[in-house]
Amino acid sequence: ATPAEEKDLVIIGGGVAGYVAAIKAGQEGLKVACIEKRGSLGGTCLNVGCIPSKSLLNNSHLYHTILHDSKSRGIDVGDVKLNLAGMMKAKETSVSGLTKGIEFLFKKNNVEYIKGTGAFADEHTVAVNLVDGGETSVRGKNIIIATGSEATPFPGLTIDEKKVVTSTGAIALTEVPKKMVVIGGGIIGLEMGSVWSRLGAEVTVVEFLGQIGGPGMDAEISKATQKILTKQGMKFKLNTKVLSGDTSSSEVALQVEAAKGGKAETLNADVVLVAIGRRPYTAGLGFENIGLEVDNRGRLVIDQEYRTKIPHIRVIGDCTFGPMLAHKAEEEAVAVIEYITKSHGHVNYNAIPSVMYTHPEVAWVGQNEAELKAAGVKYKSGSFPFSANSRAKTNQDSDGLVKFLADAETDRILGVHIVGPNAGEMIAEGTLALEYGASTEDVGRTSHAHPTLAEAFKEAAMATYGKAIHY
Ligand code: FAD
Ligand code: NAI
Repeated sequence: ATPAEEKDLVIIGGGVAGYVAAIKAGQEGLKVACIEKRGSLGGTCLNVGCIPSKSLLNNSHLYHTILHDSKSRGIDVGDVKLNLAGMMKAKETSVSGLTKGIEFLFKKNNVEYIKGTGAFADEHTVAVNLVDGGETSVRGKNIIIATGSEATPFPGLTIDEKKVVTSTGAIALTEVPKKMVVIGGGIIGLEMGSVWSRLGAEVTVVEFLGQIGGPGMDAEISKATQKILTKQGMKFKLNTKVLSGDTSSSEVALQVEAAKGGKAETLNADVVLVAIGRRPYTAGLGFENIGLEVDNRGRLVIDQEYRTKIPHIRVIGDCTFGPMLAHKAEEEAVAVIEYITKSHGHVNYNAIPSVMYTHPEVAWVGQNEAELKAAGVKYKSGSFPFSANSRAKTNQDSDGLVKFLADAETDRILGVHIVGPNAGEMIAEGTLALEYGASTEDVGRTSHAHPTLAEAFKEAAMATYGKAIHY
């Protein structure tokens, strides 16, 4: 066999973590190869995650607005019809444009793109099963594992991506289900539940815990969000567990009961979406051949500089610790290359924002009230409702609030929690404030343009150290 080619860096996985690390490495002058088995770059996020889901969220919101909310805006429309195939095509166009864009960036930054499945042959060599047939291998002075995550299956319910779907099937349904049951009221459940509810499905969300939104969402914000989504037509069954599912007839029959025990009932659905979390994906990588460890949740174990116990092999993104978010993966990708080339890097895990792209959006950064209480931190809070914000009222889009949590003594911002229009953009301001150690008074004394939604952010800060003007 021909000896494997030697690179400064080999990256396994071309998702957000892997492709960003590859580009950054190319920019730093490293000889780099990135191995991806999917046939296109961008990983879960671009192909079946962030991007296609946001396309459907945006267009289903437009459809819903035109259908139900145009009269009060002085717009008379004729027959409004859903063209689902057309909506899916728009989604595919955004996905293919963006994934091809990354191939272009690889060329621009001298990254070699190897289409295939990588597995460790030894500590420095990755054997690749090529997508187009055949095999090759590549040696790396450094190796980064960025193999991402997959949906956690629900025991006893076989995923066919048609009747019982994960998010991957839920972004590709060919007709609007009459009834959809979502298992898990976290981010995926609420985003995809919103899409199909807006397009006409009767959506019921079954959540094991007493609140929706998944880990991290502040309880007050979660409650407000549930109220708004209920008004939009979604149904919620909290504190409820799914016992079993029967897929033998055309509808799926789910047996559910109160989490603490109680009478079982049956929920019928044309489509069941399983959205109970994601787990690291490392199958077929052969990491055990070289003695790498995973923890009890399957996450590859690393130190502060992303090193496994074999120091030239590092891990970033969803397949290791931390929130499973694209922008977290991206921060790690830049930092890991800085560690390799300069021996120092930086990610502030206390200031990584979360956004749920429902309407209105929900966004937060820093700690929530339950976390501060558990840590025994003395804090104060202040909030401002969008119903008192001129722009939100004018836009006829005024559900929600902005809430600050700040240190009781120093006024330093500890957390920002928003449900409301454009929360996902507004949270960037909160993240910057947190990153710079700002106080709520710093934010409250900063001029914000009028009339903007961002004034609600300023006034919530004012309400934390003093008083808001408009509420
Ligand atoms: P991935 O994107 O999963 O990439 C890993 C890649 O490695 C995959 O392409 C896989 O094919 C490849 N791979 C695996 N094993 C091998 C191997 N042995 N050889 C070669 N290639 C291999 N996050 C956000 O921040 N915002 C959002 O709006 C958002 N929306 C989401 C919506 C959905 C429906 C889902 C499912 C996720 C969403 N996420 C979102 C999460 C986001 O997609 C992930 O956090 C992100 O993709 C993680 O990047 P990664 O590179 O670590 O892993
Ligand atoms: P999640 O962790 O956000 O929510 C899962 C929910 O399911 C939780 O509320 C949990 O209590 C509940 N649950 C768990 N087991 C259950 C059971 N047996 N029965 C009923 N409920 C149960 O996970 P989700 O929604 O699957 O998303 C996975 C990850 O993907 C997210 O955590 C996030 O990292 C990422 N993502 C991010 C998005 C964004 O940033 N906008 C969008 C979509 C996904």
